[in-house]
Amino acid sequence: MSNSGDGHSVRPALYPFMRPLRERSVPLKIVLLGATGSIGQQTLDVVRAHPDRLRIVGLGCRSRIDVLLEMLEQIQELQPGDRPLVAVTDPVARERLAASEADSHRLVRGDGNALVELVRTAEADCLVNGLVGAVGLEPTLAAADEGLRIALANKETLVMGGDLVAAAVAAGGAEVLPVDSEHAAIAQCLSGRPADEVRRLILTASGGPFRETPAAKLPRVTVAEVLDHPTWKMGPKITVDSATLMNKGLEIIEAHHLFGVAYDHIDVVVHPGSTVHSLVEFADGAMLAQMGTPDMRLPLQYAINGQHHWPLDCGRLDLTALGPLRFEKPDTERFPCLALARAAGRVGGSAPVVLNAANEIAVAALLAGHIRFTDIGAVVAEALAREPDHLVPDLVAVLETDRRARALAETIVHERSR
Ligand SMILES: NC(=O)c1ccc[n+]([C@@H]2O[C@H](COP(=O)([O-])OP(=O)(O)OC[C@H]3O[C@@H](n4cnc5c(N)ncnc54)[C@H](OP(=O)(O)O)[C@@H]3O)[C@@H](O)[C@H]2O)c1
Repeated sequence: MSNSGDGHSVRPALYPFMRPLRERSVPLKIVLLGATGSIGQQTLDVVRAHPDRLRIVGLGCRSRIDVLLEMLEQIQELQPGDRPLVAVTDPVARERLAASEADSHRLVRGDGNALVELVRTAEADCLVNGLVGAVGLEPTLAAADEGLRIALANKETLVMGGDLVAAAVAAGGAEVLPVDSEHAAIAQCLSGRPADEVRRLILTASGGPFRETPAAKLPRVTVAEVLDHPTWKMGPKITVDSATLMNKGLEIIEAHHLFGVAYDHIDVVVHPGSTVHSLVEFADGAMLAQMGTPDMRLPLQYAINGQHHWPLDCGRLDLTALGPLRFEKPDTERFPCLALARAAGRVGGSAPVVLNAANEIAVAALLAGHIRFTDIGAVVAEALAREPDHLVPDLVAVLETDRRARALAETIVHERSR
């Protein structure tokens, strides 16, 4: 990729820009990881809307067997006679499933990583990665290796291992298409345009539930208040990340890897309405924005189907009812996670891995009632300060750094909660 004109591409992009996508089979065979979560359930909605074009051939989750079995029943109705492969990582839940009388699936055992085994054996065309957290990285790498279309919701994959994914995608002929509404918006604005005309990406943020909360009150907010997101209904981890603005920080790193744009040219604006999903500024100053109802099924469908605007019953934006569109600067004093993530992304190597691991531990500690909301940024900052920066050239190094950073963050949480 060149860096001509006033464009600001700095590295090869994962996003295929002007490259045509590979032809895939019809119906498209999907392996869905994180099936029992918010993204997983919404993926099933998309498949339900297009049963002639989309088909589920594999499902993966951790332990929520009841939700999984319900889902398998619905898939039976949609795809009579199919028996999708299923991977469950929690050993107790896996045994429960094996002992259940349901025969609507085939259980992947896999001595090592059952999710990876599922991706490699399901004979799918497309991975929808709706796992939460670091567990998403290895299945993404396996899908890249298998040359699949990867509809990527699991942003932690790119935060931890963006360079590894880029190498695996280049070698395996896979395609990574973003599911995050912001990155899907950018992909739509970039559609058919060369990378070297891009000057700036502008990610929008809802601002979360504490957009107007004074700094002095933040240490006392409750977990219920943290989980009360104004616009999106999502799983607990991303909902906490949205409240701290860590989510937007992770998305900056995700955008850097996806679109190959330098950190100095990725901005964030707070846009409370969540109707402008993100914007691109081009070298001549022209700006394109993508708008739509805040419904994750839209970007999910757009990634799964290889970037087509198929019909979907999600309601429509009534422009005349929207009122003025507001855009504000994010407050990095009250929400330090945003600046921490940007800085870790710039440093690269181990820093984003440590950031992600420490954040996962801190979020879990908040949800368990062990630390306060404002401790999350403090735990992440301290973990980054205590873990020396180093290169992470391969998966072993990434996973080892992740393991060490988790242990360190646990220690810091323990120290703070005493
Ligand atoms: N939800 C949204 O609207 C949204 C929007 C944009 C991006 N995203 C991104 O999408 C990802 C998923 O978010 P979510 O909100 O859907 O999360 P969620 O509702 O908490 O669901 C997480 C899923 O991951 C599975 N999982 C977690 N740990 C696992 C493990 N060790 N092994 C196997 N499966 C495991 C869970 O299985 P169990 O249920 O069995 O525990 C569940 O199916 C995140 O990276 C998030 O940032 C989500």
